Amino acid sequence: MKRLTMDEAVTLLRSGEIVALPTETVYGLAGRIDSEQSVRKIFAAKGRPAENPLICHISSVEMLERYAVVAEDDRALLSLWPGPFTILLPKRDIPDIVTAGSHLCAFRMPAHTLFLEAIQKTGVPLAAPSANRSGETSPVTAEMVEASLEGRIQGVVDGGPCSVGIESTVVLREGERSVRILRPGAITEAQFEALGYTVVRNGAPEIEGRGLLSPGRLPVHYAPSVPLILVDRRYSPALLDLLRRFLNGEASLFQITEQRIDIERIDRSHPEVLRPDHAPDEKPEHHQGQGRSPDLSRKEDLTAFAAKLYRLLDEMSRTASVILTFSVAEEGIGRAINDRLRRAASLRLIPSDTEFAP
Ligand code: TXA
Ligand code: MG
Repeated sequence: MKRLTMDEAVTLLRSGEIVALPTETVYGLAGRIDSEQSVRKIFAAKGRPAENPLICHISSVEMLERYAVVAEDDRALLSLWPGPFTILLPKRDIPDIVTAGSHLCAFRMPAHTLFLEAIQKTGVPLAAPSANRSGETSPVTAEMVEASLEGRIQGVVDGGPCSVGIESTVVLREGERSVRILRPGAITEAQFEALGYTVVRNGAPEIEGRGLLSPGRLPVHYAPSVPLILVDRRYSPALLDLLRRFLNGEASLFQITEQRIDIERIDRSHPEVLRPDHAPDEKPEHHQGQGRSPDLSRKEDLTAFAAKLYRLLDEMSRTASVILTFSVAEEGIGRAINDRLRRAASLRLIPSDTEFAP
């Protein structure tokens, strides 16, 4: 896939073509929002259902105000920009195809100089979903974009690996000072609370009878190309190794506590365990402290894990036949990590006394 310069990318965008661009979260597949044709090209290249609306990326609050109705109660939230935060607002002058017919449009100001430059130079907001075929894991490097969309788009601006690594937090403001989180991300509940908002979790209210508000919240999303088994973190760490050995034919099923595992359809030939310290190409900072293994209840470790999660899943699916992993602490960015792992999982092991799946 062609590596585009910024000038080439902007020329293509201006003429209604679509290109992949880096953001701080994941790579986006961008097209100008004022051209139905380019937006249609985005849906076609991804194989994305027309019911799943796109995020509009803006480079300034002035640009936002040209395309959205911003209420006083929304203002404090905009201080989270630029960043991994997306807000639904009533739209103005945005084609229905962008929002799947909804009067609400999702807006985000990304914190990536290349993406911001592309918006400014194109002169209009850019609609951009993640730059992958629908249903696949989002790309966090230009190589991952290439593997997913080769032959379907003209090129990618290579900005190296994304720093955040998982998609933005999507919210809808409700009432005066309340936000409903439709998709957890790197902007955490604590950050909304610090701005004086109360947080309503995991909502998917019906709006105008149009079905699920945030279709990206449906299960089976962000899935790697091999089955992933997600084990609740409350189980002993030894369970993962036992499972791996079982899948490898080195241990038998009765050893695996009382869990009954339906693995009939899983190719057991090459299981691998996903660990936060797994990445072979990790830079030294993560190995400081003489072999300290990351503690997935620590905020910094969770942030670092999020940044490499999709890359690890992508790398592992090339060699592993099945991936085994633990859930992480359900707080801060850990909520977003668990959300993505749950959607990626074909099998989840949770303690039988759990009332609600964490
Ligand atoms: O970090 C991100 O958000 C990345 C980068 C490229 O900005 N984008 C991204 O886009 O993840 P996408 O299309 O993969 O996910 C957008 C999510 C979906 O869950 C979609 O259903 C929801 O936002 N969404 C977009 N517009 C909406 C709308 N008008 N109403 C409700 N949900 C909406
Ligand atoms: Mg996506």
